[in-house]
Amino acid sequence: MNAHTAAEAYLLDFHRRVVSSTSIAFGSIPASLNGTLHASSYHALASMVPADNKALSVLDIGCGDGHLLSLLAGRKHRGLRLAGVDMSDGELDVARSVLPNDISLLKERAQELSIATGTIDVVLSHMALMLMDDIEQVLSEIHRILRPCGTLAFIVGGKGLLEPVRQLYLNELRPILREEKISLRLGDARTSTGEGWRTLLSSSFTDCKLADVDLEVSTTPSEFWDFFLSTTYDVDLLSSGGQEKLRERVLAILASNCDHNGNLRVGCGLQLITARST
Ligand SMILES: C[S@@+](CC[C@H](N)C(=O)[O-])C[C@H]1O[C@@H](n2cnc3c(N)ncnc32)[C@H](O)[C@@H]1O
Repeated sequence: MNAHTAAEAYLLDFHRRVVSSTSIAFGSIPASLNGTLHASSYHALASMVPADNKALSVLDIGCGDGHLLSLLAGRKHRGLRLAGVDMSDGELDVARSVLPNDISLLKERAQELSIATGTIDVVLSHMALMLMDDIEQVLSEIHRILRPCGTLAFIVGGKGLLEPVRQLYLNELRPILREEKISLRLGDARTSTGEGWRTLLSSSFTDCKLADVDLEVSTTPSEFWDFFLSTTYDVDLLSSGGQEKLRERVLAILASNCDHNGNLRVGCGLQLITARST
């Protein structure tokens, strides 16, 4: 196995200290996709897997604590063969403790998969591909393991937090990141735009489609901090003093944007990208 990059070393450390942060943040926020409301963005992504009993092998890349796999396992479809890959022991330990034993979980980097060529029907990934270094190599591995005409469907960050909360939050976060000289970049810049993804996918995939996955939640500022903002990589990278300063400033500014019940409406725009292997 190649040595981990600086970004991967950070991600490994984060996911050892903070497990399940993504499923806690996104697992119960309703998600709208193409006019259909799903219970969460995980459910929206799971809807890309046909709901019948035909034999189908599905791999979740960057599966984390196994939240998406557990939704698919819950269907109890006889033909569904499920597997997950993640490089983090911390997340995989949780996944192993909650998932049925017949789901294979591999601790490996997505850049060098041990899975045999042309054996997977559907590759899924939820909020992971945009974090990965050498994304071209990751896509080449996905293409290698997919059967010809296999499906790739993944959700990535897209627009992220929507206005007005986005700007209010960034106005507080950015000066503190600058003060603390935080510069670690996660993932490839091209994965932050739809055009970037189209270009990356164009060499080995066809039929590339992009769709908005819109999340909206009503929450108090302190719940929003505890369950969402405080477990983001940006906040984690700050010193404890920086985190506390940011928390105080963010709670104060968000409080002034709440309704008369003390609730804040927070929107978040994710993106679902689907493509077919050539
Ligand atoms: C934001 S979490 C998302 C986890 C899960 N998909 C979810 O949505 O709950 C990103 C996951 O990708 C994994 N990851 C990041 N880069 C990876 C790589 N190069 N190879 C394998 N896993 C990776 C991390 O360990 C982490 O578990």
